[in-house]
Amino acid sequence: MSKRVLLKELFASSSEYVGKDVLIKGWVRSVRKSKKFSFIVLNDGTDQDSIQIIADADIENYEALSTMLTGTSVSILGKVVESQGKGQSIEMQAVSGDVIGAVDESYPLQKKGTSLEHLRDIAHLRSRTNLFGAVFRVRHALAQATHKFFNDKGFYYLNSPIVTAVDGEGAGEMFKVSTLDSENLPKNDKGEVDYSKDYFGKDVSLCVTGQLEAECHALGLGAVYTFGPTFRSENSNTKRHLAEFWMIEPEVAFADLEDVAELSADYIKYMIDYALEHCSKELKFLHSMPFTDVEKNHVDTLIGVRDSKFKKITYTEAIDILNASGEKFEFPTTWGEELQTEHEKFLTDKHFKSPVIVTDYPKDCKAFYMKLNDDGKTVRAMDVLVPGIGELIGGSQREESLEKLEKRMEEMGMEKEGYWWYLELRKFGSVPHSGFGLGFERAIMYITGMSNIRDVIAFPRTPGSCDF
Ligand code: 4AD
Ligand code: MG
Repeated sequence: MSKRVLLKELFASSSEYVGKDVLIKGWVRSVRKSKKFSFIVLNDGTDQDSIQIIADADIENYEALSTMLTGTSVSILGKVVESQGKGQSIEMQAVSGDVIGAVDESYPLQKKGTSLEHLRDIAHLRSRTNLFGAVFRVRHALAQATHKFFNDKGFYYLNSPIVTAVDGEGAGEMFKVSTLDSENLPKNDKGEVDYSKDYFGKDVSLCVTGQLEAECHALGLGAVYTFGPTFRSENSNTKRHLAEFWMIEPEVAFADLEDVAELSADYIKYMIDYALEHCSKELKFLHSMPFTDVEKNHVDTLIGVRDSKFKKITYTEAIDILNASGEKFEFPTTWGEELQTEHEKFLTDKHFKSPVIVTDYPKDCKAFYMKLNDDGKTVRAMDVLVPGIGELIGGSQREESLEKLEKRMEEMGMEKEGYWWYLELRKFGSVPHSGFGLGFERAIMYITGMSNIRDVIAFPRTPGSCDF
């Protein structure tokens, strides 16, 4: 019995395999049958390219192999030969083969193209397409790149909790976690739900960030990063929002905003470089797709970004650029207003034509934990904006003064009790520290060119939709 060879390995070392018999296992993409032989195209998910197999009519099991439907799983032993046809370097001459699992006519992934919307409805099968195979291999590569990047820089990987008793962003967009009987909620004297009867004895939710816990550990380990699922119940039904997304949050002690701005640019460049090195076939394929949001030469654009120094402007400068642009925006561009997607896209896609880091936002646009600037109006915040996407990263220097942080929380009407441990960081050896969060799916969108965030996560959760 030969050992199974993965297509990735076969294509990467094709010259070593020519003339040898190998065993491959995968799913049939197509079978073209003629009288004397059949062409079987097979993919095993490990490579962008499928392998073409020629099966002569005289091999054992020919009838079964030559009538396989798209989607059948099969194992084939064959001799690797140099390819006659264009494109591929090698193909296989089948020696023998067995059907592992048949499909029936209802298999929805036929050779002809299906829409992305339809593929979302059959998300359990979409990794069997060239497109989603590519997306999910890139996703994997970027996850590996993330761990390597931070590990090589001396950061410790922190698994921050998923269930939490605090609102880490103070924005109130949390999903409750409860085992109370919703038909029969226990009430207190005031008629409010009595969470002391709930599983955790209090009102808890799914995390919107791991930042607060990352700060605790950064102030002990020096530098940490989280990489985990994040949940937001904001009702944003857009191509860039998910209710469940993954975020990477580095947090660094003794670091200011400039330090983490530089770190954020280095991290993005590192991911680009890693994807170019490990997923060149995937990127070439994806960027050539009609529905991706990028030019065919997006690889060149990414190389340009990798080799560039990121531009950095303040929020105030951004407002000036928007107001001088002569563009008609839907949302106001007066100082103090949030930068909307249209503004962010103008800055990246039209004005700078590159990523840009915007810093020092008005305090009212940002979360409670950001360090107040001396002007009393702005905070040491940064957003990293990238072309086609808008905000990829949000971060800041954290308010390290207990007094200022408490004052800000009071101003914002927050209840401080639950944050006692977070506040204590400012009492016990407080240091300047900074960090950021990168939306993992948005990074995948940026690099692959996929235009809808639902198509870069295995099973998207969005308002009104939680299938699979
Ligand atoms: O800007 P955000 O809200 O920042 C934080 O959560 C901070 N605690 C990060 C930190 O400083 N440690 O979110 C960070 C990033 C955004 O820039 C965006 O890329 C992504 O997370 N993001 C989302 N991605 C998909 N769907 C959503 N609903 C998202 N909300 C934020
Ligand atoms: Mg943000």
